[in-house]
Amino acid sequence: MPNIAIIPGDGVGSEVVNEALRVMRRVSELDGVQFETVSYPFGADHYLKTGELMPESVFDELRQMDAILLGAIGDPRVETGVLERAIVGGVRWKLDMYINLRPIKLYAEYLTPLKNKTPADIDMIFVRENTEGLYLGLGGNFKEGTPDEVAIQEMVMTRKGVERVVRYAFELTRQRNRRKKLTLVDKANALRAQDLWTRTFEEVGSEYNDVDRDHAFIDAACMWMVKNPEWFDVAVTSNMMGDIITDLGAAIQGGLGLAASGNIHPGKVSMFEPIHGSAPKHAGRGVVSPIATISAVEMMLDYLGIEQSAARVDRALAAALTSGEIKSLATSSGMKTSEYTDVVLRHIE
Ligand code: IPM
Ligand code: MN
Repeated sequence: MPNIAIIPGDGVGSEVVNEALRVMRRVSELDGVQFETVSYPFGADHYLKTGELMPESVFDELRQMDAILLGAIGDPRVETGVLERAIVGGVRWKLDMYINLRPIKLYAEYLTPLKNKTPADIDMIFVRENTEGLYLGLGGNFKEGTPDEVAIQEMVMTRKGVERVVRYAFELTRQRNRRKKLTLVDKANALRAQDLWTRTFEEVGSEYNDVDRDHAFIDAACMWMVKNPEWFDVAVTSNMMGDIITDLGAAIQGGLGLAASGNIHPGKVSMFEPIHGSAPKHAGRGVVSPIATISAVEMMLDYLGIEQSAARVDRALAAALTSGEIKSLATSSGMKTSEYTDVVLRHIE
């Protein structure tokens, strides 16, 4: 029986996680899979009440679990980045979840703001490096607050770290068996050290002769994603570039109300979450779409090897989004958070 940690977190996190749990319960009834869930209170409220961010002992508990479902982290009452680095970052780094998997799939034409693009054109997966790059917090400030201030944020790339994510991406492209094309997205023309990515990509890629090796600089990749999203199959990129371009990816698939991600260490506990944040201004209003978190549950089921349930959720999402019952995933859609789930549950069979 899979053991799943639930971290609803801040803002709208608990609203969307509650809806995703409704879908999990239904899947459990239909497919006879049982889940053991343990809820954790970490986030702003807990921090403000107790001063505790994420205790070391909890990381040890999480290591024993099969998966983690996260809502969202971030709260205006706490200095920007404190909760995010300790909780989201803490889990990703301490549990070495080196893959951030972000599928960008258009379920129905009306959801994309791009003209004349159909579900056949928008179906790609971004593999974002999740433990290195600009996110490590190496660097600092000197002469802070003076006109002579120096601020340094180091971008860290290791051969091991780059190789494992690149290899994962080649394997994924092969298994996915769609266009068999892997695009390396970087800025090696300006960041000379990214040559490590270029070389690693070529070396690892030479073991995958059935996969086409493609390359785009990050700025151009942003343009192609909008003009010709059909060119992408699987793409691999560094941490912050992946963070930025996958919000663009979310926009072309229907917005943050729909986009999900998995923080993965193959064979170990992995964490699944919507790409959107805690959206404090919408918290407590019951208006955000839970579809992204339901989609994260689908990814989690797939990761846990419960493929028939993952496929069931995917069919339900596709049916719900093409049924005409959901006009938009925007907070202004007039639909309540729970009503989106009602539609999905009606289409789950
Ligand atoms: C994401 C988020 C996080 C990130 C933040 C909350 C630190 O934007 O998962 O994309 O930048 O990775
Ligand atoms: Mn992001």
